[in-house]
Formats: sequence, C-alpha cells, structure tokens
Amino acid sequence: MAGRTELTTLETVQESRSWLFTVRDRYGEAEEAILVPCEDGVEGWINRCMHEPQRLDVGRGVAMRDEEIICPRHGSMYDACSGACDNGEAAGTRLVGVDVSVEDGRVYLTDSIYHFDHEGGLEDGGDGGEDGTEDDGGSEGPSSTSHISF
Ligand code: FES
Repeated sequence: MAGRTELTTLETVQESRSWLFTVRDRYGEAEEAILVPCEDGVEGWINRCMHEPQRLDVGRGVAMRDEEIICPRHGSMYDACSGACDNGEAAGTRLVGVDVSVEDGRVYLTDSIYHFDHEGGLEDGGDGGEDGTEDDGGSEGPSSTSHISF
C-alpha cells in the first residue's frame, strides 16, 4: 500500500458528527470529502449528492438524522454507513466512498485514489457565507451589528 494519512480522531468525528476535508484524485483534481460517524466507527464519502452536484456539508457540518445524511437541497437521506439512498430524488444511488480506517482512536485516509490535501473545504478560509441560526445558550436579544435579510 502507498501508505496512509492521519486525518483526525474518532472522538472528533463523533462529537462534531462530521469532518470536512479536501482530497485530490490521481489527476490532481480536488474534491471535498466528509467523515461521518457510523456504527462501527467512521465512514468517508465524497461530499456530493448523487442527484445533483450539491454539497452535503456546506461548511457547517452534515445534517444527520437517525444515522442518515440529509441532502440540504431536496432532502434525500443517505445511510451514513453504506452510503445508500432509498428515498427522494436520489433514490437508488450511493455516495462515492473514500477509504478510511480507524486505529487507536485515530482516523486514517487509506484510499488508493484519493490523497489528502487539506482540512476543510475547497474554499476553506474564503467567504463566510450566511450566518447560521445556531444559538448555544445566552438569551440576549438580537444584538447583531449586521443586517441580515431572509
Ligand atoms: S441535490 Fe440532493 S436530493 Fe437533489
């Protein structure tokens, strides 16, 4: 084998529920990939819905329910462990897998096609995008200095 690259820890993936990184294929093309928790550890998938080229993790973590990855565009859900989809617009498809392994609580990229490029997405460090609606604790009123319109 050509080797492996340490990505992160199993604990990090389980706590954050997804971990975004960028890989390159053998032609040097960059693709985003995600790690998601699965019953027996972690699975890696290319960060792209099979219905349309929609990112599953748009930079704020993957939306998941009952161990299924939810596509943010049309709502199809993929099994986090098998990558299979049996519902909605993407029914009958399966996510493109990225081989990873877990050893001593560390997650390694072991794929023969995809090689690690960097942590985060393709545009990591680029535009911040819209603010989410996360509000952990704190019940202060709206004190934002920016104007957000929906
Ligand atoms: S783009 Fe994902 S279900 Fe349509």
